[in-house]
Amino acid sequence: MSSSGKPPVITIDGPTASGKGTVAQHVARALGWSVLDSGALYRLSALACLDANVAAADEAAVANLARGLDVRFDGARIILSGLDVTERIRAEGVGNLASQIAALGAVRLALLDRQRAFRRAPGLVADGRDMGTVVFPDASLKVFLVADVAARAERRCKQLKEKGISANLANLMHDLEERDARDRTRANAPLVAAVDAYTLDSSNLSIDATVNAVLDLWSKSVS
Ligand code: DC
Repeated sequence: MSSSGKPPVITIDGPTASGKGTVAQHVARALGWSVLDSGALYRLSALACLDANVAAADEAAVANLARGLDVRFDGARIILSGLDVTERIRAEGVGNLASQIAALGAVRLALLDRQRAFRRAPGLVADGRDMGTVVFPDASLKVFLVADVAARAERRCKQLKEKGISANLANLMHDLEERDARDRTRANAPLVAAVDAYTLDSSNLSIDATVNAVLDLWSKSVS
């Protein structure tokens, strides 16, 4: 338990394609904790908008969809209204729309309790943009994971090609920069390191080395 009497939380925030999702999964597995991929909730809301033909500018309608999402996390699979959308939500178009609707205050509010409900014993690793600043400000350990834009674009390019999706490095870099700028400069819960976060630069680190660095920070914080 944390000092608040609630199960402990490790937050991993950072920009798009910084590797935080993979790192969060590995850290959670090593500790035997649950994991929250908060970006998936924004992506699911974006997909629900596309499917229901709701425009990103209609804040109240988007927030309603976000609040009413019928979603089930079934291991690594994500089920929305009975359909497996695990792959669909990872499309670049869905990510871009997710970044647009994530700027809307009513949408963020609609997803807040759903995110906090993931906190259960023995602990939670939560990844996103505002995990340490807004959703779990009392987290036991806060990590801000960064990587330079070239390293992130290369990783994203490799991931897409492995899935058989064609990708262009220059376009990806441009998209990442655009999405980062929107996530960092929005008025509601912008992407920013919490004052008490440790910033970790993974540009030249493997996944394993990054995971070990987070686990190290965690052991030091509890010893
Ligand atoms: O982490 P991701 O790429 O799956 O997130 C998709 C978008 O969702 C991202 O561009 C910004 C938004 N997001 C957010 O605003 N707050 C979060 N906690 C997680 C994601």
